[in-house]
Amino acid sequence: MAKIEKIVLSYSGGLDTSIILKWLQETYGCEVVTFTADLGQGEELEPARAKAEMSGVKDIRIVDLREEFVSDFVFPMLRANALYEGQYLLGSSIARPLIAKHLVGIAREVGAHAIAHGATGKGNDQVRFELAVNALDPSIKIIAPWRQWNIRSRMQLLEYAEKHHIPVPSDKRGEAPFSIDANLLHTSTEGKILENPAEVAPDHVYQRTVDPVDAPDTPEIITIGFERGDPVSVNGKSMTPAALLTELNGLGGRHGIGRLDLVENRFIGMKSRGIYETPGGTILLTAHRGIESITLDRAAAHLKDEIMPRYAELIYNGFWFAPEREMLQALIDQSQTFVSGEVTLRLYKGSASVISRTSPLSLYSADLVTFEESAIAYDHHDAEGFIRLNGLRLRSWAARNGR
Ligand code: ARG
Repeated sequence: MAKIEKIVLSYSGGLDTSIILKWLQETYGCEVVTFTADLGQGEELEPARAKAEMSGVKDIRIVDLREEFVSDFVFPMLRANALYEGQYLLGSSIARPLIAKHLVGIAREVGAHAIAHGATGKGNDQVRFELAVNALDPSIKIIAPWRQWNIRSRMQLLEYAEKHHIPVPSDKRGEAPFSIDANLLHTSTEGKILENPAEVAPDHVYQRTVDPVDAPDTPEIITIGFERGDPVSVNGKSMTPAALLTELNGLGGRHGIGRLDLVENRFIGMKSRGIYETPGGTILLTAHRGIESITLDRAAAHLKDEIMPRYAELIYNGFWFAPEREMLQALIDQSQTFVSGEVTLRLYKGSASVISRTSPLSLYSADLVTFEESAIAYDHHDAEGFIRLNGLRLRSWAARNGR
């Protein structure tokens, strides 16, 4: 096997990836370049630089990917109204292909032939990272320390840290922390007491939303502007994608919107229970369906809804860069040509509800639907024939059954 000369590590600066950094340097005896992405996880990233420096890393990359994350990954997914298993807004799933893309980009730039990540051997994230790297550059080798080393538990991890003088924050001693993944779209919390789906999640699990019970007693009314399927403004103020999602996260968090306690089916085979908080994303999903309700043709809307579970599953399973995801994306994007206008929502105690919608491109015709006298040519007798023909086969069926 060819010797590995250089590795690009996806590095958060947390305990796990600090240990992985040390382990890579020892095991491969080569240069490790660290890559830390700012996806809006709300953590200071400069400490990661200091820690990497202390571990002797010479090439440290810290990149702000917030705008790219929202405009090129989150928004395309929201155009599809994507939900996995009917409920999960895919906040972790959609971040992995972006991180993988940059790992590959940096590897090429610095001439590294391998990348490494800190995802464990039981989760979806390892699959997502690696399928994305396969699709983007099959020549790059992937190192997944959690599948390779013989550290098998949290305790052994701490022992390794101690042995190698890697500082362990005091709250990481003793009891293992929750496994948390956060970015601009969501916070996901798994592990510990949550592993028992019969246990009610304790209140301190929630990080960015208040309990709806404690949310303000007065509702808040907001208006979101859409252009070609993407949100572009809040209350008339134009915003960049990341700024808009940040704004809605604040509003949603204050009103307790977007909490989800879910048992899901991992791609790898087991069921897992997690707590998700997706305040801005939940508002956007509701608002987007609101603007689509007046701007999409019925058959177009229904076709979108048919392919949505398939599209969501592709993202969940890590096939973002696969040809079939791109084909479905082309279909979804084309459907959004006329999805422009404004949606007004009421935020109140955990819910975001559409209360009005307008669009210069609306297909809605009050004249056509009205209960009042209407000028538009609509012949009520057409409805009679329409029902008679649709009922034809039902009458045959009922007659044969002897009803
Ligand atoms: N189960 C979620 C998914 O597969 C989240 C995974 C990462 N979250 C975490 N807390 N480690 O998308």
